[in-house]
Amino acid sequence: MSAIEDFRSVRFDQEKIVLLDQTRLPEDIKFVELVTVEEVFWSIRNMLVRGAPAIGITAAYGLYLGMFAAIKDSVNADLDAKLQQYVQYLNSSRPTAVNLEWALRRMSRRWELERGISIKERLSALLEEAIAIDREDEAANRTIGEHLAALIKDGMGVLTHCNAGALATSRYGTALSGFYIAKERGVDFKVFADETRPVLQGARLTVWELQQAGIDVTLICDNMAATVMSQGKIQAVMVGADRIAANGDTANKIGTYSVAVLAHHFGIPFYVAAPISTVDLGIDNGQQIPIEERAAEEITVFNGRKVAPDNIAVFNPAFDVTPHELITAIVTEKGVFYPPVDLRSALS
Ligand code: MRU
Repeated sequence: MSAIEDFRSVRFDQEKIVLLDQTRLPEDIKFVELVTVEEVFWSIRNMLVRGAPAIGITAAYGLYLGMFAAIKDSVNADLDAKLQQYVQYLNSSRPTAVNLEWALRRMSRRWELERGISIKERLSALLEEAIAIDREDEAANRTIGEHLAALIKDGMGVLTHCNAGALATSRYGTALSGFYIAKERGVDFKVFADETRPVLQGARLTVWELQQAGIDVTLICDNMAATVMSQGKIQAVMVGADRIAANGDTANKIGTYSVAVLAHHFGIPFYVAAPISTVDLGIDNGQQIPIEERAAEEITVFNGRKVAPDNIAVFNPAFDVTPHELITAIVTEKGVFYPPVDLRSALS
């Protein structure tokens, strides 16, 4: 097993969160320590931590830290109101990845469940829940990886988009977890990683983590996917997800939809890998998924240099929705689902 698989981009350590600052990769490996709920909000909003499961885990620890401080500051405060205030605040840091809302809801439920015991014990229960969310994600990713690895054969080329690796989760990743397991098993395969404009998660993060694991990875620009597919270099596409609707429509990093259309054109299977915490059974289809729009500067400024004229109109959605018709299978820790599928009944 390589060091990157042991690596945790989010760690909880003695009343603080230790985050690998993903905005500084691959140039600098710098860790930041978060103590306040405001620091947690800011780090999620500004993508020091990113990737659906990692955001959820960070918010869960962040909620615990907020309550820890609230209790220390005033034992008489209305703690239920405080918790709800922090839940809403953290949940507003980024809108698309449902893991954030899911983790906060789970923390909130645990707080409710533990009513009637001492405040100290209630607080310990919150930390216990955050640790459980973290550990369960790791186990889920390993199972997802087993499913994906079974699809990766000698001689295959696999295309991925954005970063759905160890950096985006507790450990192993979702879409990338199969690569680590296939590598452990000695399978001879190649990965092609889209650079993933505009924030470059593919170039800065995916190829960084795969290269460290000794996986054969080639970086391409997003607009080269059709070329590598037409050259017969790609036999499967594996991507992560930020929110999956009950009918299988999937929100993932902007550009995923284009890759799915291309894969369909070339007859290449398109796999979405995600833990159940990414499935939103509260929505019927992808049209109901809120899509984050980010600052224009992500597009108009590159590496500190202006690359577009002043006052240019910019549209910068951070995610798109791939219709379930273009998805060959949704790979989760609870099994592999083949759209069209009703995830409400499949998961009940
Ligand atoms: O904006 P980001 O970097 O948080 O977006 C991340 C993605 O879209 C990933 O592909 C997705 O979260 C899956 S992470 C396991």
